[in-house]
Parts: sequence; structure tokens; C-alpha cells
Amino acid sequence: MTLLPLDPDQLLSTTRAVRRRLDLTRPVPNDLIRECVAMALQAPSGGNEIVMRFVVVRDPAVIRAVGDVYAQCWTKYEASPRFAGKLPRHTDELRAQQGRVVSSAAYLAEHMGDCPVLVIGYLNRRLDGATGAAAAAALCSVLPGMWSFMLAARARGLGTAWTTIHLMMEEVVADLVGIPYATTQQVCLTPVAWTDGTDFKPALRPDPDAIIDWR
Ligand SMILES: Cc1cc2nc3c(=O)[nH]c(=O)nc-3n(C[C@H](O)[C@H](O)[C@H](O)COP(=O)(O)O)c2cc1C
Repeated sequence: MTLLPLDPDQLLSTTRAVRRRLDLTRPVPNDLIRECVAMALQAPSGGNEIVMRFVVVRDPAVIRAVGDVYAQCWTKYEASPRFAGKLPRHTDELRAQQGRVVSSAAYLAEHMGDCPVLVIGYLNRRLDGATGAAAAAALCSVLPGMWSFMLAARARGLGTAWTTIHLMMEEVVADLVGIPYATTQQVCLTPVAWTDGTDFKPALRPDPDAIIDWR
């Protein structure tokens, strides 16, 4: 597979949450997904133990069913006080950015069930009742790999979008995709599809010094 000509900083700064620009019609070959998982596996893991897992959903009926659950969760999320559309933003530019994110997320909620592939990254055990420290240590053996999967997808012309609102109905989704809820912890559900064009831009972010404490 030919990779896009992106240097490391371009790859890191242009791997966006892709929603409206997902090509819902073009099939995604299994080999590309496998390559992205191979890249994910190069991420760090506690004790060098591979605890990250991926379920790749290609069956249109299952994708549709997961999409329906996702849409229900979106409706609940929109009504909740945590809804991103209700968060304060202090400049016109940030308000405009947030408006675009919310409208694009609403689009994905309508179309998750139309995507050619859905991937769920998960941990091979549950974290209910774990201390913050234990949960952080366990999740940190999955999240870097999930992000590497997304970077590798971007490098191959594929779009992804990190989503978690389906976790409101995690057990239902586990049953739909055939993973045991009792012994798994899902961390991310992402669509995977070719992108409409490959020109993505860095996002508006704070100055680094706004979040660094120099000691
Ligand atoms: C932990 C986490 C949870 C997220 N959950 C959702 C989600 O449920 N639905 C969604 O559309 N986007 C979700 N996102 C994507 C964010 O909205 C997105 O990363 C953010 O708006 C910045 O956009 P960008 O990644 O394109 O820069 C999530 C991202 C993270 C890191």
C-alpha cells in the first residue's frame, strides 16, 4: 500500500475526527485494517503484555444495529448537561469550531450505521471498581495502540473518528459484535472509511504554554 506523503508532524497534526468526509460507498480492504492493527501493536504496553484487542465489524446488518444503538446514545447525550454543544467557549473562533464539531458529530450519529467498517478497540478485562491508578495503567496499554491505529489509517487515506458515547450502552454493543461484556472493556468505537480527499488541516488548539507548568 502506498502511504500518503506526510511527514511525522503532518501526520500527527492532521489526523482529525473524520465524519462528513467518510466515503460511505467504497469498500475498505481487510489487508489495510490488518496493517493498521500491526501498527497499533507497536505501541507501548505495560509489562510488554498485549492486552489491546480489536473487533472489526464488516457485516452490514451488525453495523446497522450498532449504528442504531449509537444514534440512541447520541440522543441521550444531546439532552445531557455534558453535551459538548453546551460547553462554554470564550472566542468567536472557538464557538465556530465547536459548532462545526457538534454538527459533524450529529452527522456521524445519523450515519454510523452506513459506514463500511466499524472497529472497536478494547481491553481484555473489565475495569469496573478499579482504582484510578489501576484504571489508568490498564487503559494506557490500549489507548496508544488505538491512536496508532488511527494514525496508520490516516497514512493510508482512511478516515476514523474516536467515539465513546456508545459506552452508555456498552453491554448491548458487546452482544451485537460478539465480545463478552463481563471480561472486556471497550475504549473506542470508530468508523473506518476512505476519506473524501486527503487534505486535512491542523486544528485550532491552545498555545503549549497554556497547559505547561515549567518547574
Ligand atoms: C475520549 C474521546 C471521546 C470522544 N467521543 C466522541 C463521540 O462519542 N462522538 C464523536 O462524534 N466524537 C467523539 N470524540 C471526538 C472529538 O469530538 C474530537 O476529537 C474533538 O472534537 C477534536 O476534533 P479533532 O480530533 O478532529 O481535532 C471523542 C474524542 C475522544 C478523545
